Amino acid sequence: MWSTSKYLLLAAVVVCLSSCFQLYSQLSSLNISTLIHHQFKARAPPPRISFYKLSLQWPPAACHGTLSCKPPIPSDFTIHGIWPQDSNDEPIPPYNKNNPCTPKTPTPPTDLPIKLRPIEGNLTSKWPNLIDGLNLTANYQFWEYEWKTHGTCSDYPDDPLTYFDSALKLRLGIKTIVRFGRQTSWTVQQVADEVFDVLKAYPQIACNLNPSRTQKQLWEVRLCYDRPNPRQLPHILINCTNKLRVSKGKIIGICKSLSDTIFFP
Ligand SMILES: *[C@@H]1O[C@H](CO)[C@@H](O)[C@H](O)[C@H]1NC(C)=O
Ligand SMILES: *[C@@H]1O[C@H](CO)[C@@H](O)[C@H](O)[C@H]1NC(C)=O
Ligand SMILES: *[C@@H]1O[C@H](CO)[C@@H](O)[C@H](O)[C@H]1NC(C)=O
Ligand SMILES: *[C@@H]1O[C@H](CO)[C@@H](O)[C@H](O)[C@H]1NC(C)=O
Repeated sequence: MWSTSKYLLLAAVVVCLSSCFQLYSQLSSLNISTLIHHQFKARAPPPRISFYKLSLQWPPAACHGTLSCKPPIPSDFTIHGIWPQDSNDEPIPPYNKNNPCTPKTPTPPTDLPIKLRPIEGNLTSKWPNLIDGLNLTANYQFWEYEWKTHGTCSDYPDDPLTYFDSALKLRLGIKTIVRFGRQTSWTVQQVADEVFDVLKAYPQIACNLNPSRTQKQLWEVRLCYDRPNPRQLPHILINCTNKLRVSKGKIIGICKSLSDTIFFP
């Protein structure tokens, strides 16, 4: 009797010691720098919106590249998106529930057909999915993608109607973007200067390649807009920080220099 409980006690001590040792070795392998790193990563707040970028695509270029479009191909700049950017001109990342950009619950993309119903017609004409611009299902796929990627951490995470309408309003306010005719060639700098001449603000220019990849084309003109506070729609046209697309301090995209020659199809 006596000796059985003595063995039990001894066994308990051994079990405890070994689990204590396991705990200890786990703790010591989780060194201090790892702990700090984890905490820092978890607590770094999402970036703040510095300005909005209205991206306008030139359909004849977009559809004469990698995209295959059903006619009719619009011959006016159409909206690609309106993107909240941080102070380094990086896109604000989409909503992430583990590090939320807002205490609000963003509208799920599946709700867009109900929410955007009142402006469906306007969106179809100014913001078509060029792949099949008259197909409402295809258009909603495009709008849902833009909403998920750029809308859920905009100033209107639970108000897609205002978000999409803000881009329509801006597009409606721009009559002319460039005055030169089609089938002409310019340097990126000349295109930027032309937009500055017309609108009094420098754009960002994005290029693509023709199908045989022999010619750079004017694909997008992107305009930058400020708003004095987040309750106001973006409406003050400002110079874009970068005339060419930049990510983490490096030029990305097809055009690498302001002296690159681009075709306006
Ligand atoms: C702490 O962990 C980091 C990341 O796992 C590792 O790079 C570093 O060498 C470790 N330092 C020590 C002292 O174990
Ligand atoms: C929507 O379309 C109607 C009819 O074409 C037009 O009168 C109105 O100004 C448009 N509104 C917006 C925000 O685009
Ligand atoms: C419209 O687009 C959807 C989604 O891309 C596609 O599945 C459908 O076949 C298209 N409808 C027509 C009539 O082309
Ligand atoms: C944009 O840049 C041009 C040339 O650098 C400058 O003259 C103009 O004042 C700037 N406009 C704004 C709104 O900052």
